[in-house]
Amino acid sequence: MKIVTIIGARPQIIKAAAISRAIKTHFAHQIKEIIVHTGQHYDENMSAIFFQEMGIPPADYNLSVGSGNHGAQTAKMIDGIESILLHENPDALLVFGDTNSTLAGALAAVKIHIPVIHIEAGLRSFNKSMPEEINRIVCDHASTLLFTPTEQGMQNLSKEGFSLKNNTKATLNSPRVFKTGDIMYDNSLYFAKISAKRTSIVTTLNLDEGDFILCTVHRDSNTDQRTNLENIVRGLLRIQQISEQKIVLPLHPRTKKKMEELLPTELFKTLHENPYVFIIEPAGFLDMIALESLCSMVITDSGGVQKEAFFFEKPCIILREQTEWVEIVSNGNALLVGSDEEKLVTAYQKLRSTKDFTYPAFFGDGHAAEEICRLMLQYL
Ligand code: UD1
Ligand code: UDP
Repeated sequence: MKIVTIIGARPQIIKAAAISRAIKTHFAHQIKEIIVHTGQHYDENMSAIFFQEMGIPPADYNLSVGSGNHGAQTAKMIDGIESILLHENPDALLVFGDTNSTLAGALAAVKIHIPVIHIEAGLRSFNKSMPEEINRIVCDHASTLLFTPTEQGMQNLSKEGFSLKNNTKATLNSPRVFKTGDIMYDNSLYFAKISAKRTSIVTTLNLDEGDFILCTVHRDSNTDQRTNLENIVRGLLRIQQISEQKIVLPLHPRTKKKMEELLPTELFKTLHENPYVFIIEPAGFLDMIALESLCSMVITDSGGVQKEAFFFEKPCIILREQTEWVEIVSNGNALLVGSDEEKLVTAYQKLRSTKDFTYPAFFGDGHAAEEICRLMLQYL
């Protein structure tokens, strides 16, 4: 089977590592993978670093689409991906998650009758003002094989009319849905051991285990609206004072830009001059999981980071009103606070005083990628 895998944004490059590793280790004689990088993310530490650290084969094509408005960016990707698909004529196209690169891949392939395989299918925040929610819904409904990480994903797809029966091969008009577990969990387990040996970020930053908070922010609703960004920063500064812990903030380039543009000068200065707030460049994956596994708490609006907090058994404050990873909220491991300063501080106090967290196996057993490869071969 020949598949074309589309990647573009940071989390997809990371996810691709799990599939490429499964192919290399278990299916090298059955699956040939062609990797297409759309170029949605392009900075060294948003893209190349993950190929180096995670053993991802170099991309066979790079469309170098870069940043832009949704329409222009997605259109350039569709155009480029279609040409590659016509040239390569694969048996299927594989996409991950919910970014514009995912949407572009799905649309380009489905229109020329190449089956779409969607990994991380079925997730819903039920907030269509998120660009990702539109991307997810469209991609799922253009897909032939849908791999969902969670039970909730199965239920969401069932409610949207997908049959959960798997008695025949998958076709576009009779798509097949499988719960496989989460390939990000595969990665966290696999790279945690490597990270423990190879990274030094915790010593470089002079951090003590269990005595710092890890924070990431990049969601457009938080970065591009001045009040939301301001509230989050004010909340973080208060948490730093209350906790007397350091806060490590690997800053997404979008957030860096928006902080410079939108934050009042005084607040920008207070944040950047606080000796206990470490604003650093976007971290590599090995550094990131070292930070996640050694921190006391995670504060994030990232889909991936909120889950990794769960994988590494850390409480998490989610800087969003909804999440598609509902399990971690309903199980009490994470609290949703949006961009509300007071809720953020209250959530910190609540999580800090909670001791009896549990971590059920919502996300599989760490072998999701192998299962996905096996099902691809069986059902396409
Ligand atoms: C994208 C995804 C989001 C995902 C996130 C992961 C969409 C609609 N959004 O959001 O779902 O959670 O990636 O990180 O697909 N930039 C750089 N260098 C880079 C990449 C981006 O400077 O290498 C800056 C540019 O100013 C760009 C901005 O970040 O305009 C936003 O990048 P973009 O890819 O459009 O969206 P993200 O916010 O990264
Ligand atoms: N990540 C990373 N370095 C960082 C921030 C995040 O390696 O500085 C990793 C993180 O560990 C997770 C993935 O990127 O595996 C999540 O991607 P991101 O937060 O960019 O997007 P989302 O998951 O929200 O789509």
